[in-house]
Amino acid sequence: MSRMKICVLVSGSGTNLQALIDARAQGRLDIEIVHVISNVASASGLDKARAANIECSVLEHGAFASREDFDASLARLMAVHQPDLFVFAGFMRVVGDAVVSAHAGRMINLHPSLLPLYPGLHTYQRAIEAGDSEHGASIHFLTAQLDGGPVISQVRIPILPGDNPQQLAQRLGPLEHRLVVATVELFTRSKVECGEENVRLDASTLNAPLLLGDDGKLHDNE
Ligand code: GAR
Repeated sequence: MSRMKICVLVSGSGTNLQALIDARAQGRLDIEIVHVISNVASASGLDKARAANIECSVLEHGAFASREDFDASLARLMAVHQPDLFVFAGFMRVVGDAVVSAHAGRMINLHPSLLPLYPGLHTYQRAIEAGDSEHGASIHFLTAQLDGGPVISQVRIPILPGDNPQQLAQRLGPLEHRLVVATVELFTRSKVECGEENVRLDASTLNAPLLLGDDGKLHDNE
């Protein structure tokens, strides 16, 4: 099979994009990052992509008359280079029907919570305020439902006494990087499909998201 073509969508610092670039450079991921798209022209993730000679596009949502116009243009831009997989890595814009219908089943999103807990924003603060004992990150298929598509993989970390959102985010960051790399790696070697409510992995239904282990690999959560 030819190398899997990936398009990464970012809005900010792009450290997860960098993790993919590094894993590719070190031969740990058999992928080609064909395109990086951002809705923020000043996103430093774009600098990381350019430094790795990856083609970049900027589509600023403020330049569009309506959300529908932005979505239609984004859906078209995403189709350039015909990627096999779209990785939303800190893309802070809810995408609409045009994008979802054009690319359903090929988009995955990194979200900083143990979904279905805490879709949306301020996940660290909400987990701490709820008195949770653990937090984490999830990668799920992106569907029309905000942070609601079937979850493929997760990483868990304990919430320590006295943790504030910044401390929690700082501890989770490096694990998110490992989760993104391990999950993209899964797509390169297995058939990962988005079912109605579940993920199908090599034609078997996943009963629970895969969990990132200390070895940096994904394991069944049983
Ligand atoms: C990551 O922590 C990711 O979980 C979060 O944005 C950050 C991007 O960091 N995503 C969301 O909040 C999506 N709702 P990065 O730009 O350094 O990769």
